[in-house]
Amino acid sequence: MLHDLGSRDKTFIDVTQRMREQLLGIVADRGTHECVLLQGSGTFIVEAMIACFVPRDGKLLVLVNGAYGQRICRIAEVAGRPFSVLEWAENEPVDVVALDQALSADPAITHVTVIHCETTSGILNPIAQIADVVANHCRGLLIDSMSAFGALELDCNALPFDAVVASSNKCLEGVPGMGFCIARREALVKTQGNAQALSLDLYAQWQGFEQNGQWRFTPPVQCLLAFDQALTEFEAEGGVAGRGSRYRENRDRLVNGM
Ligand SMILES: Cc1ncc(COP(=O)(O)O)c(C=O)c1O
Repeated sequence: MLHDLGSRDKTFIDVTQRMREQLLGIVADRGTHECVLLQGSGTFIVEAMIACFVPRDGKLLVLVNGAYGQRICRIAEVAGRPFSVLEWAENEPVDVVALDQALSADPAITHVTVIHCETTSGILNPIAQIADVVANHCRGLLIDSMSAFGALELDCNALPFDAVVASSNKCLEGVPGMGFCIARREALVKTQGNAQALSLDLYAQWQGFEQNGQWRFTPPVQCLLAFDQALTEFEAEGGVAGRGSRYRENRDRLVNGM
């Protein structure tokens, strides 16, 4: 973080490009997905995902079992996107049977959103089953994987989703300041014109990266350089398998100690 680079210099453009590719590697992309980076904390990238992927005439189903699910409802409200809610207690995972029924009952729903791991309680939602149900109903799945991405497997070939978002400062262990969205290219293409905030337009930023490799607005340069190093350390630890196993050991030690 003590280095400075011009954000439009080739060295920095190369860091940005490498980072996008490394992040796609974590979900085992085979050329079907795209990675868009965005300035800001986790909430910024969640907000960008919801407003970009859910069109103004779409409808979002929010699966809520904790504070971050509640926050997505608030985001949908502010963005003016029609939404409905399925809610469980904070100590219960999402029930896929109820999800299946809700999707059968309401054909207006275009997208479903869920928190992968509800950070507030540590509850892990059954993401693979949720993805199957949503895909069976031909709706789009938007995942907030803020506190799971990088420690729990998320293979985009086995698990159909339109978009998944996370940030630099959770399981990938960078410093705060940047979020990223990994999206199915076909779904990302359809987001053109949906954004309602210029700075949270994932389609426009994707096009920017594709055209000249640059960020549209000043990026958090030092945060990115730190994240670049964090990704090197992540790979050295054995990627998702290595990081996840260290976290499980930490968890066991904590639980045993308590
Ligand atoms: C699941 C989840 N979503 C969203 C957020 C919001 O991120 P931030 O506080 O960085 O805006 C967090 C933060 O911990 C989170 O855990």
